[in-house]
Amino acid sequence: MAQRISLAVDGLVKNFGATQALRGVTMNVNEGSVHALLGHNGSGKSTLIKILAGYHVRDAGRIVIHDVALPREFASNVVHSAGVRFVHQDLGLVGNLTVAENLALRGNFERSRCGGISWARQKLATQLSLDRVGARCDPDQTISNLGPVDKTLLTIARAIQDIDVAQGILILDEPTARLPQSEVGRVLDLVRSLRDDGASIVLVTHRLEEVFEVADFVTVLQDGERIFADDITATTPEEIRSAIASNSSTRLAVSEVPPDQRVRSGAPALRVRGLQGLNIRDLDLELHAGEILAVTGTVGSGRSELGRLVYGLQPIVAGSIAVGDVAFTDHMDPKRARRLGLGYTPQERGAGLSMGDAIDDNVALPSMRRMLGALGVSKQRIGKMARSVVEDMSIRPADERLRVGLLSGGNQQKVSIGKWVKLSCVALILDEPLQGIDVGAKADIMAALRDQVTQRGGAILWIESDAELIPQYADRVIVLARGKIVGELAGNELNRKNLLYMLYADGSAAA
Ligand SMILES: Nc1ncnc2c1ncn2[C@@H]1O[C@H](COP(=O)(O)OP(=O)(O)OP(=O)(O)O)[C@@H](O)[C@H]1O
Ligand SMILES: [Mg+2]
Repeated sequence: MAQRISLAVDGLVKNFGATQALRGVTMNVNEGSVHALLGHNGSGKSTLIKILAGYHVRDAGRIVIHDVALPREFASNVVHSAGVRFVHQDLGLVGNLTVAENLALRGNFERSRCGGISWARQKLATQLSLDRVGARCDPDQTISNLGPVDKTLLTIARAIQDIDVAQGILILDEPTARLPQSEVGRVLDLVRSLRDDGASIVLVTHRLEEVFEVADFVTVLQDGERIFADDITATTPEEIRSAIASNSSTRLAVSEVPPDQRVRSGAPALRVRGLQGLNIRDLDLELHAGEILAVTGTVGSGRSELGRLVYGLQPIVAGSIAVGDVAFTDHMDPKRARRLGLGYTPQERGAGLSMGDAIDDNVALPSMRRMLGALGVSKQRIGKMARSVVEDMSIRPADERLRVGLLSGGNQQKVSIGKWVKLSCVALILDEPLQGIDVGAKADIMAALRDQVTQRGGAILWIESDAELIPQYADRVIVLARGKIVGELAGNELNRKNLLYMLYADGSAAA
């Protein structure tokens, strides 16, 4: 029996001025299936989704939902009433409201007999929704207190709360991009169970392992065109990887530091002694000039907290931090950290970027003070630096005058890292810098970071949860569990097998 198509996209075209974001894309999504939509940063995935959502108007092409063709221009409520639900790259939760309130905002409030909102019933409905998606949070909890995976599950709960899942079409734009590796499974379990209930799901992701875990069908976009489409059972990770990276100038991820050349011992760039924070306990650490040091560990290990403590975004309870030769035990603050030569990018996508400004203005921000100190800010110098950032990080479109807000999610991420790489920082702290970056561009970013440490004498503290990536690009790794260092690997010892063993050895780390 032929499978029924719930969503058909045919010959979709969309131009933004001179940018051809979609050039005749076709995609058919079967009922009760997971359809992975893949492609490099800027290939058009989010644009396709925003057209389906009624946010952008297509220039040409057809869209058919459950056998009904949509007019060229339609409002978002048209697709909404057809049972299509979206989870966009920015989750859109209201941080200072509770879980129940956030669910109620988009659904229908439970009413009492007198017509007022019945909070008791609302709470029960919320609990049922949370159970359905496997979220581990309380209806009364405030959103800002939730971890990233529960926020994601909650957004999905909110999306599906008022539809018949069996008829639903759920479109997920990188739901796992901001999640640590160990938590991704909870989202994939949910995707599988919704599919088994009959939902049609479009899943955008840059993580190929996920595709092979949950997807039934794969479509790959490249510069706005469909260049590959096949059943998951008929393809291989290698085939998909080369489809994604085929037209790019970028290298595929290859191990670029031979293991025997990894031992480095430059002057200490950063020294941490007896550091204590909320989770971090009595931590000692030395980062040397010329070194890329990865910090990993499962959720709650204190990975991100370490970065925040060192950069002064979170108060230190005890201990000392030294940047180069300058040591102190009182509170660091980001301004002082920058003055001492530290740089930092947080885990949240787009944080620290000014969306309304051009790429070159964003790149100039951290360096402005230095340039002022020298010969005054030269527009030419900023332009030159921005152009080389665009080139090194393969930012697309390759135009440093473009507003950052118009770039795709992954390209915005490249700008936020790129603004640090041309500076002579003593040490850079990067929290999950490769999230949402396509397979080809990861190698470019890591190559730019390698230049930072070899050519500019910098050092990098690379906070990373993906155990596949660390052996490819780091000189050394330390593994955290419950706020303490539980292991360290370098040189020939630093490989995937040893790292996974260390991460999951004591069983408690996976909690
Ligand atoms: N509103 C807009 N104005 C101008 N150009 C845009 C706009 N939105 C997207 N673009 C451009 O369209 C192209 C496709 O972007 P899109 O966001 O669809 O990529 P993507 O595949 O989702 O990438 P990523 O993996 O990085 O999220 C990019 O070149 C982007 O810069
Ligand atoms: Mg996108």
